[in-house]
Amino acid sequence: MEPILSLDRMTVRSYLEEEAGSSLADDVLDGLTRPFKELPPKHFYDAHGAELFDRICDLPEYYPTRAEREILQLRSADIAQLTGAVELVELGSGTAAKTRVLLSALADAGTLARYVPFDVTETMVREVARTLLDEYEGLEVHGIVGDFERHLQHVPDPVPGEPRIVAFLGGTIGNFTPGSRRGFLRAMADLLGDGDHLLLGTDLVKDPAVLEAAYDDSAGVTAAFNRNVLTVLNRELDADFDPEAFDHVAFFDREHEWIEMRLRAQRRMVVPIRGLGLEVTFEAREEIRTEISAKFTPQRLEADLAAAGLELVELLTDPQERFALTLARRTPAAEDEVPRRRFAS
Ligand code: SAH
Ligand code: AVI
Repeated sequence: MEPILSLDRMTVRSYLEEEAGSSLADDVLDGLTRPFKELPPKHFYDAHGAELFDRICDLPEYYPTRAEREILQLRSADIAQLTGAVELVELGSGTAAKTRVLLSALADAGTLARYVPFDVTETMVREVARTLLDEYEGLEVHGIVGDFERHLQHVPDPVPGEPRIVAFLGGTIGNFTPGSRRGFLRAMADLLGDGDHLLLGTDLVKDPAVLEAAYDDSAGVTAAFNRNVLTVLNRELDADFDPEAFDHVAFFDREHEWIEMRLRAQRRMVVPIRGLGLEVTFEAREEIRTEISAKFTPQRLEADLAAAGLELVELLTDPQERFALTLARRTPAAEDEVPRRRFAS
């Protein structure tokens, strides 16, 4: 695979072109022909969706970003000391805004050599790779543009003697359904060698009113983010959705302890999706589930980690205990054969 960008100390490779559009087409075909319609959240993040997510992070109601940043500011030096990390691999890296707190602590500890941002949005991986190269002297950056559910095998194998952190921040693990969540934790555990750590951000269960406000802000940015997935379908699959004809719905499901986001049709509609040769009928008030965002208790976290062959090393929370950052490592029994593969040149 030829890098799409290669400079001294930096490469960016994309694995999306190989199967351009196919995941979206298949996901939409599956998701909109089900009795209960559903779209996976990864399709929110075109360039505009990524911008909207950035705005969400600054909203007064959306506390997770601030809470996680607080933990990083308070505890990154400890994380650096405990892990001795030479390499930071970050899945769903986005703009890597909070990551800089950790990168700086690793740089201050004198161990940091390499950062591997991995995201589905190419513009962000390129931008992050370019700016971090300037910000951290001597840092190598190997950006990966891909779908972390399909392309994790392109993350280079850990190097013995070069401790690695695999970070999955922001609470994005909460966007998986429970079984897939454990499967994905297992896939992340496979990226860890002896002495490596997973750093996992999870939002915590709290007052439903606080949770619901975070996903239904008064400025309507989350509503725009939610509707943006229909704009993606219009552009990529030649569909005819009127995004404004769908209401943004966000509620806390108390049984499952997750936030659910949906788009609710205001009236009966038949929407052509020409790219798929499909017409989708929506009854009035019919909904598409567009995202779940699971909230955690320490017990749920430990159970999920254990199911994935991981053990908790440290559970760090912000002073208000809204969000948790967990350091975990492979349980000794799970540390079987670790394949050795490095960056292809
Ligand atoms: N880590 C950042 C961003 C979280 S938003 C933070 O904590 O603020 C979720 C990020 O994951 C977005 O940047 C989005 O583009 C990326 N993402 C979502 N689904 C993805 C997938 N299947 N593969 C790769 N990246 C994905
Ligand atoms: C990326 N992910 C963790 C966010 C969340 O909180 O579940 C996405 C989001 N959806 C609405 N607001 C933010």
